[in-house]
Amino acid sequence: MDNIKVFADADGIAAAARDYVLAAAQRSIAERGVFNLVLAGGSTPRKLYEQLAQQTADWEKWQFFMGDERYVPLDDERSNQKLANDTLLSALAANIDQVHAVPVDQPTAEQAAMEYEKQIRQYFQDQAGVPEFDLILLGMGSDGHTASLFPGKPALNETGKLVAASEPGVLPPPVYRVTFTLPLINAARRVLFMAAGADKTKAFQAVRQDLTKTPQQATTPAGKVRPAGELLWLVDQAAAG
Ligand code: 6PG
Repeated sequence: MDNIKVFADADGIAAAARDYVLAAAQRSIAERGVFNLVLAGGSTPRKLYEQLAQQTADWEKWQFFMGDERYVPLDDERSNQKLANDTLLSALAANIDQVHAVPVDQPTAEQAAMEYEKQIRQYFQDQAGVPEFDLILLGMGSDGHTASLFPGKPALNETGKLVAASEPGVLPPPVYRVTFTLPLINAARRVLFMAAGADKTKAFQAVRQDLTKTPQQATTPAGKVRPAGELLWLVDQAAAG
């Protein structure tokens, strides 16, 4: 499949992802004067963020969102926003109105999800329909989850909300999450997955099968991601099996 590229290792993925993100940014800024980027959580994106931080770009035209977040304080080591701040956003000296963190200071994960959805809709000036991000970065867990859409959990089948609260999945950390739902992810102009490591082999094999079926028939959350625009998977040899 031409939307799957296999690299020797995680460094190869990070370099290819860096070039893809920069090209998407250039195109988005040329077309609309802004690059609305959704960052991924977990550990895989760290190398990409570190590489991006060393580049030169029209950073002032970039807007940063988070596709899913752990419902923990922003300075908690488990926070996806902390990873992004520490590896990328602080290096860019991105100013506060460019960074759209999940409002984890809300009293519950549900209220954080509702508030984030409101902020996203307001950012897109409450335009009709589902907001279209220029690029959404995603990872995949060994159970095939993506963002915080876990197999068998209600958030995976959410079609009314753009952002939902999600109970902890089976994979750590066992905390409530706030996550983009499939309707918001699938409205994106581009989605880029990064997956590395032998622990992802089984799930990625399932995704390969899923991509030959309809989203409804897909067996994994990651396999249900079919953006209106481009879908690209960057994996290493270990994950590709
Ligand atoms: C999270 C992530 C999650 C992650 C996968 C892969 O909050 O944990 O959003 O979806 O992308 O679990 O995680 P790794 O990159 O650490 O393997």
